[in-house]
Formats: sequence, structure tokens, C-alpha cells
Amino acid sequence: MSSTATSQPTFAGSTLEPRDVAVDVLFIPVFESTDALEDLAEIDHATGGALERARASGEFRGRLYDVFVTPVVAGGWKAGRLAFVGAGPRNATGAERVRRIAATCGYAARQRAAVTIGVLARALSPTVLADGVSAAEFDAGSYKSDAAARNAFPTRVEIVVPGGDQKIVSHEVHRGRTIAECVNITRSLANEPANVLTPREFATRVSAIEQDAGLRVDVLDETEMRSLGMNLLLAVAQGSAEPPRLIVIHHDPPGAPESPVFAFVGKGVTFDTGGISIKPADGMERMKDDMAGGAAVTGAMRAIKLLGSKYRTIGLIPTVENMPGGRATRPGDVVVGASGTSVEIINTDAEGRLILADALWYARKLGATHVVDIATLTGACMVALGRNLSGLFGAPDAWVETVRQNAHAAGDRLWPMPIYEEAREELHSEIADLVNSAGRAGGAVTAAAFLRAFSGEGAWAHLDIAGTAWAESKQPYQPKGATGVAVRTLIELSMTGAS
Ligand code: BES
Ligand code: MN
Ligand code: ZN
Repeated sequence: MSSTATSQPTFAGSTLEPRDVAVDVLFIPVFESTDALEDLAEIDHATGGALERARASGEFRGRLYDVFVTPVVAGGWKAGRLAFVGAGPRNATGAERVRRIAATCGYAARQRAAVTIGVLARALSPTVLADGVSAAEFDAGSYKSDAAARNAFPTRVEIVVPGGDQKIVSHEVHRGRTIAECVNITRSLANEPANVLTPREFATRVSAIEQDAGLRVDVLDETEMRSLGMNLLLAVAQGSAEPPRLIVIHHDPPGAPESPVFAFVGKGVTFDTGGISIKPADGMERMKDDMAGGAAVTGAMRAIKLLGSKYRTIGLIPTVENMPGGRATRPGDVVVGASGTSVEIINTDAEGRLILADALWYARKLGATHVVDIATLTGACMVALGRNLSGLFGAPDAWVETVRQNAHAAGDRLWPMPIYEEAREELHSEIADLVNSAGRAGGAVTAAAFLRAFSGEGAWAHLDIAGTAWAESKQPYQPKGATGVAVRTLIELSMTGAS
């Protein structure tokens, strides 16, 4: 499976010296100002002094994501060109930063129509570099009629660790490449327009993606949901001509311990009009990515299987289309969910928490001990934290901290947010157990407090990715569109067995 139908590029680890790497373009990260290039004694000679001249003149200072390309003029080198990539300050190289530096290499390679490239690792992680370069393979313009005219991704990518252990380097590169392929699957899904990716089509695609990796997938239809009492999920779906689905992906490795059992629950609203509490027209087109959480779970589950996590992990994706219609839920309707809790639905645009409520209940029913939900849940979270940080909520604190640390290691940025007592009181209903919206103030917190009422006894964390799932502007390391946020966090959690 892949996001593109054409032949797959080869990713390899290399332990050769830079001069022996035979590629069209060899990329070399250079740190800002203080980089003495002590590990690259011959490099200036190879460029005929061009690098030093560029550094002296200020044309290339190693500033983040700057690229300086120059031909190799010295004899004995096998690369055609050298591309120096700005890596920024040396002391600020977290996983996310390194991935973006590598993605910049990938995009620069495409721009220059390089067919084979190498990336010199220097002190950077080969796993993260392979992951990052692969990001540039993602095609955000897949419906453009001139797709064939655009430069292809290189056919061969070598991550070069001179004098390294070949087995270790190969393994690390393979790992990074696998993660990135799965992140790109997530990004492709989240980019799909809602007329293509309906809940049924989402279920079909997820089944194919996961079964191809050897995972078992169950898809529950309305009849099964009704008999399980998932009326909150059904209430969101009923305004649409498209029927809902609950996609359940099982990673059940032989010999897995009884605990932890992870469940990753992703919001899968294929389009969010707001329902009867309809959204304004401006920017509504973005609501096709309201299934980015579900797409993250899809990519993560595939990677978890391919990389061989030892822990039981269940992926759950409740998927619906939130539409106004003759049968749509009205503001004020009262609905009892699968857990028996009744909800007065005062705002049909607060739909994500309704479908997650029933899915969280089902995750516990399936035996999950450690649950993480991932959702483009609130505009309020984007207001609070912006586009670079996802909100992190949950309980108990120790589990939330574990999720934060795993995310940091994997290169996703989460910021801890509180759920305080009063937030639950703000969801008070006169007629039912709770309302589904407490209005604008603290909207990300009250949404999390709502989910808390359905997350059950065990460990639970909630990632609000409303601000981070979608890049609004093109960067050297990413196009506009779906980012694949949170996929790496979920992979890391299941692989490390964090609990
Ligand atoms: N899908 C939206 C949240 C969202 C907004 C995601 C902007 C990405 C960008 C969610 O279903 C929603 O509509 N939330 C409401 C909640 C409110 C009605 C309590 C919101 O944020 O306004
Ligand atoms: Mn909504
Ligand atoms: Zn939504």
C-alpha cells in the first residue's frame, strides 16, 4: 500500500565515506554559524572552495531550511553535486526539527529533479532522517491533471553514516521509512475530499490498508451500533444520506502481556457542516479533514503491525458525516449513549465528542487499559495553542506525562491542559445527565471534560489536534494540507509499551 501507485523508491543505509557515495545529490546538514565541519575535512576542497565562499559572503549561513547547492569539482568523489542544508543552531535538534531538515532535503531533491540522493547523517538520527525525507514523497495535489509533469520523488535515497554499523544503520533507516510511509497514508486520507471519502469509503480504505499489513478489521454498521446502544454516534449520522461506520482494527500479537492493552480512538467525521447548528460558509471546506484523528489511527495501526509491537493495540474509528437534513438531530434533543449516560444535544456542531463518547465506551468493553483519543475537536484549542501544539488532556497525571514524553521523543508537540472540576459543572443540563456544549469560554477544556464522562476508569488521554492536523501555509518542509500529526506518538506508545 502506498499513497502513490507508481514504483516504490528504495531507502538504504550506507556506511561509506562521503566521497564514495554515488548519488546525483549528496545532502549535508550544516549548523548555523558555529559549525566547524570538523568531521568533513575534505568538504571545502570537494566544492573548490565554494562552500567557504558562500559562508564568508553570507549566502549560506546554515540558517534553518536554507539550501546551497554546488557541483563537486574535486576528483575522487562519486556524487554529482553537494547540497548543504541549513540545520539551525546545533543545540536545538529535537526529532521534529531533524525531520523537517530532512524533509527540506526531500523537497529540494524533487525541485532539482535528482533521481538518487544521499543524506549525510552527521550526528542526526538515521531513523528520523529517513522519516523526514519520505515526507516529500507525499503528493498534496493528487487530483491535478498535470500530475505527470511534476518532478518525481527520487528513486533511491541513502542515509549515510560513515563508518557506522551497517546492520544498525539499515535497521534504523527501515524503521524511519516505515513510519513515514504510514504517516503519508494518514495525510493522503485526511486530504481526500468528502465526496470521495464517505464513511463507507473510509471503512473500505482502512480495511485494505490494515489487512494488507496482516491486521484484522471489523466494520460495524448501523444495525450493529443500534444493538450496542450507540445512539450518540447514530444521532450525529442521522442527518446524512451516508450511513455511519465504526471501524475496529485489531493488533493482537501472540504472547502479548495482559496489560497494557492500548486503544487509539480517532474522530472520523468525513465532513462537518455543523448539522442544524450549521457553520458559516467561510472556510467550511476545511471540514473535510475532520477525520484527521481517524486517519492518524489508520496510519499508526499499520506501522504498529509492520514494526511488530509486542502489545495488544486496538484502533477504533467512529466515522460519520455531520449534515443538516430532514432527519437530523435538533438542538435540544436528548439521546442516551451506550454507557447509559443521557445527553442533551444543545449544539449539533459539538458532534465529535458524541461519536467519541460511544467509541470510548466500546474501547473499554473490548478490554482496553490505556486509551488515547485523537480528534480535531475544538476551534478553541486552536485559539489557545495555535497551529504548532496539540492540546493534551487526561487522567491520571502519570499517564498523561507518559503520553507527553512519548510524543516528544517521536517528534509531535503536545501541551498539557487541565480538566478542572468546574468544567464538568458547566455541562449541567436541566433535563439530562449533561449537555454537549458549554459555549465559547474554555471550549477545549469543557470538551475534554465531556469526554472524561465517557472515558471509563482506566488511563485515558485526549489529543485535540484541531490546530495541528492541517498546515495552512506552505513551508520548506511541508505543503499546505494534512500534516499527519499524532501518528508517530501512537506508534511510539505501542512500540515502547509505555504504561
Ligand atoms: N470539527 C470542529 C472543530 C474544528 C474547528 C476543527 C476548526 C478544526 C478547525 C468541531 O466539531 C466543532 O465544530 N467544534 C465546535 C464546538 C462548539 C460548538 C462547542 C467549535 O470548536 O466551535
Ligand atoms: Mn463540529
Ligand atoms: Zn467536528
